[in-house]
Amino acid sequence: MSQINLEITVHSCAGGQCKQKPDENNLGFGQYFTDHMFTMRWNKDKGWYDPRIEPYGPFSLTPATLVFHYGQAIFEGMKAYRGADDKIYFFRPKNNFARMSRSAERICMPLLAEDLALQGLKSLVSLDQEWVPRAEGATLYIRPVMIAVEPNVGLRAALDYLFFIIACPVGAYYPEGFKPTKIYVEDKYVRAVPGGVGEAKTAANYAASVLAQKEAKDKGFSEVLWLDGVERRFIEEVGTSNIFFVLDGELITPPLQGSILPGITRDSVLQLARSWGGKVSERAVSIDEVMVAAADGRLQESFGTGTAAVISPIGELTYQGRTVQINKGEAGPMSRRLYDELQAIQFGRQPDPFGWRVTI
Ligand code: COI
Repeated sequence: MSQINLEITVHSCAGGQCKQKPDENNLGFGQYFTDHMFTMRWNKDKGWYDPRIEPYGPFSLTPATLVFHYGQAIFEGMKAYRGADDKIYFFRPKNNFARMSRSAERICMPLLAEDLALQGLKSLVSLDQEWVPRAEGATLYIRPVMIAVEPNVGLRAALDYLFFIIACPVGAYYPEGFKPTKIYVEDKYVRAVPGGVGEAKTAANYAASVLAQKEAKDKGFSEVLWLDGVERRFIEEVGTSNIFFVLDGELITPPLQGSILPGITRDSVLQLARSWGGKVSERAVSIDEVMVAAADGRLQESFGTGTAAVISPIGELTYQGRTVQINKGEAGPMSRRLYDELQAIQFGRQPDPFGWRVTI
């Protein structure tokens, strides 16, 4: 990645266009947006140019804009946390921008100017710092996005791109909060196949998951659990998260083999759990193994991990008409410990031995 030194232009909304802030105790997820956004553009001849912060507002794009036709779009999810000391922390933001560059490569977009994006992120959150919630458990969710903006309907990589960062104060992603969710094991649709784009954070992956998610929600489930796209046998991930199991005392998550999102929370959980000792494995785990272990009482816990979802305990799995309860439908001790320790690091409540926190 080459270093790009560009001055960020700032147009602040001070003087009239700033918005009223929502009630911090009733934020839901993804409904309110801060006063500003960061944008920068890329052109094949110029590279990255025109980094700026301006009031949050609409873009003007022609109907021929490539992203509308072939979906060249990638994104990231990250958060800013307000500590008890009133400092604002980011969690491993460089990992998000590095992953964005990897996603970009996979769908023929330019590598992100990662240092400039980090500078833009810090400037944006610094300007909008009053939007970082103080309410218990609430955070500022940050959404970096890159889209193809060249007007052209030929199928090829675009010659112009727009990168932007927007931010929204949020509460818990699932209305259940830390209460265990009910998950539907999907055996009709698949999310990703070997050689596809499953490990890239492309908008297309999420668009392809919406129908299964809707059908599961209509049946009363919170999310779907995806099986591998070839045999529909091995566990991949949950709708918005990676998945973990505690089985016979072993903490297990499926390995990154190309079709699973390489989650930053997933990696943090693996590092935390390994630092505590005990058996931690990244290995293939089949749905049959999980259902048998649940029936035998050996499946002690399961939980999803993600930036939005944090640690989200799973209380029930339903597969081919059979439902198993996990830990009597309650959050287990491993989920609780991971949630508490991760949040304590993220909110600056305890030392950060891994060097994950970044202040503005
Ligand atoms: C995140 O956890 O940040 C994600 O990007 C998932 C999204 C569907 C909310």
